[in-house]
Amino acid sequence: MSVLDNRPALKAEVYKVAEVAGYLWEKGWAERNGGNITVNITEHVDDAMRAMPAITAPVAIGATLPNLKGKWFYCKGTNRRMRDLARWPMENGSIIRITDDCAHYEIVADAPVKPTSELPSHLSVHNYLIGKGSNYKASVHTHPIQLVSMSHNPEFLEKDVLTDILWSMIPETKAFCPRGLGIVPYMLPSSVELADETIKAIDDNYDVVMWEKHGVFSVGDDVMEAFDMIDVLNKSAIIYRDACAMGFKPTGMTQEQMKELSTVFNLPK
Ligand code: 13P
Ligand code: ZN
Repeated sequence: MSVLDNRPALKAEVYKVAEVAGYLWEKGWAERNGGNITVNITEHVDDAMRAMPAITAPVAIGATLPNLKGKWFYCKGTNRRMRDLARWPMENGSIIRITDDCAHYEIVADAPVKPTSELPSHLSVHNYLIGKGSNYKASVHTHPIQLVSMSHNPEFLEKDVLTDILWSMIPETKAFCPRGLGIVPYMLPSSVELADETIKAIDDNYDVVMWEKHGVFSVGDDVMEAFDMIDVLNKSAIIYRDACAMGFKPTGMTQEQMKELSTVFNLPK
């Protein structure tokens, strides 16, 4: 028995995470247990689920997140592999609910799989998004090879330098990642400081942020959208790299060409 049985909408949401987990593995972005995904599934929770007892004692989140009162999430398990989650999402992830004090979570289903170590960042971001009235339900953290490589060049870490380079590689990147790539300086993985800096970058109007020399964190309506934005950015990073490997620095589209794109497609930047 799984909590997903007879709950087709919830099952579809969790299996979308499994599909994306497979893509992350195939792309080489998910070595070992690398990366994590969480989805706010509260809209799919029914009364029978609400009546289910927790299968673990409450665990402290490390922060009090008032907008998460009564919210439910599907979370990848810590130390679990994306390539395993792709096939068995409920054995490599779990469904949690936030307790009424907004400072703890408890696991409800299917098995006591401890959520990702990056839970502080994921839950802080969900708390922020709900507070803003955003429709975004999913957050994805992954280790895209070429984007992470680019974060090793200090020149690229100045505000919007990397965004401009990546947008200028191919028109689709600006069209489908129209807020660009925010930069979060290196912080210890899974720390509350990393969570706080991630929120600051998202508040600065980015949907995707680079965790310097570590990975990327993105938010979107659903997990597929959060993944797609990282995918288009990394495609640009590969074009940049391949041009350099061919022995020249790519010229990129001009500022005028990018402005025209924003006007015609009504883009925010
Ligand atoms: P978890 O296995 O705890 O999700 O950690 C993976 C990771 O990428 C940490 O940044
Ligand atoms: Zn990571």
